[in-house]
Amino acid sequence: MIHAQTSRMAQRLMVALDYPDEQAARRLIGKLEGIPCYMKVGMQLFYQAGPQFVRELKSLGYSVFLDLKMHDIPNTVKGGASSIAKLGVDMFNVHAAGGSAMMQAAVQGVEEALANDASLSRPLVIAVTQLTSTDAATMNGEIGIPGSVEDAVVRYAKLAAGAGLDGVVASPLEAAGIKDACGKDFRTVTPGIRPAGSAADDQSRTRTPGEAISGGSDYIVVGRPITAASDPKEAAIRIIEEMMG
Ligand code: C5P
Repeated sequence: MIHAQTSRMAQRLMVALDYPDEQAARRLIGKLEGIPCYMKVGMQLFYQAGPQFVRELKSLGYSVFLDLKMHDIPNTVKGGASSIAKLGVDMFNVHAAGGSAMMQAAVQGVEEALANDASLSRPLVIAVTQLTSTDAATMNGEIGIPGSVEDAVVRYAKLAAGAGLDGVVASPLEAAGIKDACGKDFRTVTPGIRPAGSAADDQSRTRTPGEAISGGSDYIVVGRPITAASDPKEAAIRIIEEMMG
């Protein structure tokens, strides 16, 4: 049994269910029983397990971030957003690089779904800014966006805020700059988190859970430090305690 303050902080921890199928994801969920964290479902799991598994997570009482990073013409994204909203997820995302018309279309898709079903609640619509896997060399030399990655991220965040989105996915290092540019209510969702003393894996510029929260992250995304732990529940509780400072 965890107490109320811990439970509120647990809702800011998003566990990345990076698994090839629902059986593997269910095994982790079983081990995390009693922790009211957010569950992040990405492409690998969703393309295999589909909407039914998202409904299963919702019926277990979890908040769900559907991380599918849509990027298409506005009309197609509007339809996609409408279908996602009907699933009852709590958060989903689109690429800011699709432009403001595309992001507005995502919000319209949500509104259409809500208008047709009063039982649905409005999911947060979040933008992907510049992928952390693209460095300045890739962004400047290949994609053709000039300037620093930090500037590009803030520009994308402002574009997303102007289009009516609720926040962005970003590095924890960028959260404070995004809040300065877009306001404190504009959410920041930050991966690249590693508890003090744990392996960095393939993440390069990591922050601890405590540093991320004190630096302005609203939600932290954690995968392997929990999914690969010998005791995932103990690892998750330790992370929530680090978040509380
Ligand atoms: O295992 P780890 O904690 O590194 O997992 C981080 C999660 O956050 C993964 O699901 C990864 O796809 C996601 N992510 C990320 N960096 C981004 C966007 C998403 O690591 N820029």
